[in-house]
Amino acid sequence: MYIGLDLGTSGLRALLVDDEAAVVGVADVPLQTAHAHPGWSEQDPATWVAAVHSALAELRMTVPGGLAGVKGIGLSGHMHGATMIDAAGAIVRPCMLWNDTRSHVQAARLDATPGFREISGNIVFPGFTAPKVLWVAENEPETFAKIDKVFLPKDYLSYWLTGRAVSDMSDAAGTSWLDVGARDWSADLLEKSGMRPDQMPDLLEGTGIVGEVKPALAAELGLPSGVLVVAGGGDNAAAACGVGALREGDGFVSLGTSGVLLAARDGFAPKPESAVHTFCHAIPDTWYQMGVILAATDSLNWLARIAGAKPAELTAALGDSITAPGLVRFLPYLSGERTPHNDSAVRGAFTGLSIGSDRADLTRAVLEGVSFALRDSLEALKSTGANLNRVLAIGGGAQSRYWVELLATILDMPVDLPQKGEFGAALGAARLAVCGVGGASPAEVMTPPAISATIDPRSDLQAAYEAAYADFAASYPALKAHP
Ligand code: XUL
Repeated sequence: MYIGLDLGTSGLRALLVDDEAAVVGVADVPLQTAHAHPGWSEQDPATWVAAVHSALAELRMTVPGGLAGVKGIGLSGHMHGATMIDAAGAIVRPCMLWNDTRSHVQAARLDATPGFREISGNIVFPGFTAPKVLWVAENEPETFAKIDKVFLPKDYLSYWLTGRAVSDMSDAAGTSWLDVGARDWSADLLEKSGMRPDQMPDLLEGTGIVGEVKPALAAELGLPSGVLVVAGGGDNAAAACGVGALREGDGFVSLGTSGVLLAARDGFAPKPESAVHTFCHAIPDTWYQMGVILAATDSLNWLARIAGAKPAELTAALGDSITAPGLVRFLPYLSGERTPHNDSAVRGAFTGLSIGSDRADLTRAVLEGVSFALRDSLEALKSTGANLNRVLAIGGGAQSRYWVELLATILDMPVDLPQKGEFGAALGAARLAVCGVGGASPAEVMTPPAISATIDPRSDLQAAYEAAYADFAASYPALKAHP
């Protein structure tokens, strides 16, 4: 048996799988995020530890005796969060999360410093780790002086479990301190950020073994002695392991809080000016690239809140099949945007509203706008040489057939829908443990899920959506000029 632990922004998921990585049990524990000021987004790492205790307690109840056979644990988690400890191993301040944008000034400064884009292969986005720690240096110097190690969120859990400070390549790639092509910390980027190499955890590939769970903690958690923890992966790399997106041509689109269009890559082909993210995969000698949009289902949830309805009620009113594009356009920049604009200040808009526009028109505009934004990400990915001919759709938004047909048409590629089941980052984390501890090969274990349906582009509507996309893309400069 193996455990996959996925530290998500809104909750921790623990998955118990057998030696073939088939799911035996699952437990979810919600987590809270604090937004003390606009742009701030923080979690207390103590709540992550408490969530692991609760999730394993639930697995002990729902799968009696299940934990007794556990041999390995894999970890996955939200990326970029700055989790800092002092020399005694105590957390020095709450973790600043991936969607915390307070350090946009520091990010712009580092991004303009020669070396960052070239060595890290990425724009220094405000959500990344290096600018956040620089913000701490400039705004909380007494806290900064205490920093002994900086962890990514899931790495704090492996430190708590084993006592060893380790990160994996896929998560480390999102710090702006990694030489992403060489898969090693960059002494140059660390120095330019005011950091020391000894403040970085050791680096392993995602299947690398961090160490054994501490005996006293294992006893407390109901685990046998000798359970090994593998380094795991950042949530997007782990999700790619969960859906078997390992090789060139494999990819997925995720309609979650944020939206992700991800392509696995055999080599390192950065193109920071496209605002595409180029990160190490969680398996050796492999990379991936992705476009990230900050408000996917978040845009629909926002409309649902205002409309006083549930998101599923709004999408159900549109039916299952698309028609010609609506006349209202929506630009989904409610929290700013990463790909392709790298603009944390821009905000969203509706255009083309008329006196007759109703709730269904606005819903349609939101689903179209998010899909057009993902088309922007596809264009950005294509500009790096990534070649996606079909994708798997995951995330809550993929439950709307209408939305998936829209995406297939706007991305102009077939979109596969997985059968119900487990295929996210928690499964990816468990699969990394099966490979790292059990010795299986990633290609053998990280297979794609069974497909329940393939949604093809609507060729009859393609030209109309192409024109609407051009219209969408033309609106950004005006929004940028008048924030
Ligand atoms: C990726 C990113 C998010 C987080 C949260 O760059 O910021 O996908 O990993 O899930």
